[in-house]
Amino acid sequence: MGMVHVVIQKEAIKASVFNRRHFLTLSGIGMVSFLFGQPKISFGQARKEEKMSYTAKDYGKLLGMEGFSDTLLKNHFTLYQGYVTNTNKLMEILGQMLKDGKLGIPEFAELKRRFGWEFNGMRLHEYYFENLGGKGGIEKAGKLFKKISDDFGSYEFWEKEFKATGSMRGIGWAVLYQDNVTKGLFNFWINEHDVGHPAGCTPILIMDIFEHAFMIDYGLKRADYIEAFFKNIDWKAVEGRLG
Ligand SMILES: [Fe+2]
Repeated sequence: MGMVHVVIQKEAIKASVFNRRHFLTLSGIGMVSFLFGQPKISFGQARKEEKMSYTAKDYGKLLGMEGFSDTLLKNHFTLYQGYVTNTNKLMEILGQMLKDGKLGIPEFAELKRRFGWEFNGMRLHEYYFENLGGKGGIEKAGKLFKKISDDFGSYEFWEKEFKATGSMRGIGWAVLYQDNVTKGLFNFWINEHDVGHPAGCTPILIMDIFEHAFMIDYGLKRADYIEAFFKNIDWKAVEGRLG
């Protein structure tokens, strides 16, 4: 259980390291503990406390999915909820700083940088959970299958490259993106939530490859997780994102 705990808290720990390294000067205004506490606040609570806050979505319907334990999924939902909580808090704090005219100071700059990490951590998980929960493979008569086949030479070529992208050493996301200018499809490796996304592109399929997404169930066997992920892709949802 100790190991599980360590894995689950990986991103939270990362946040606290960032906190110590960059936010010591903020402690004087009491912002640090407020912003970077563990993500244990329920969304019901968050909604009561913060007017106009974004509400976390409920992905409970994914429980029972083949190849994903409830423990892993529930921990992953909690992690996602933490991103929503922190995104709401950042919006509130940054909004207050604007009202107070506190814009030309390091505290504003660091929190503004932080906003991309928390917001994308929230939204990328939503894309991820929403492209799961399906049964059966891609519809071979559908427009997504045709588009992938046209752009990559064959569906098999695409799948091979997407899986290879997701198997790269390191943590992050494998994302099939569609360029809104050319409509072309590309597989991208996203190293951090807020770094490396192609501008003007729409995420079509997203796979979480942070260790918390699979280590509880698969240990270091990431390839087995990727196989389980592919068995549960909601291809209808994925195709619906295609422009
Ligand atoms: Fe995740």
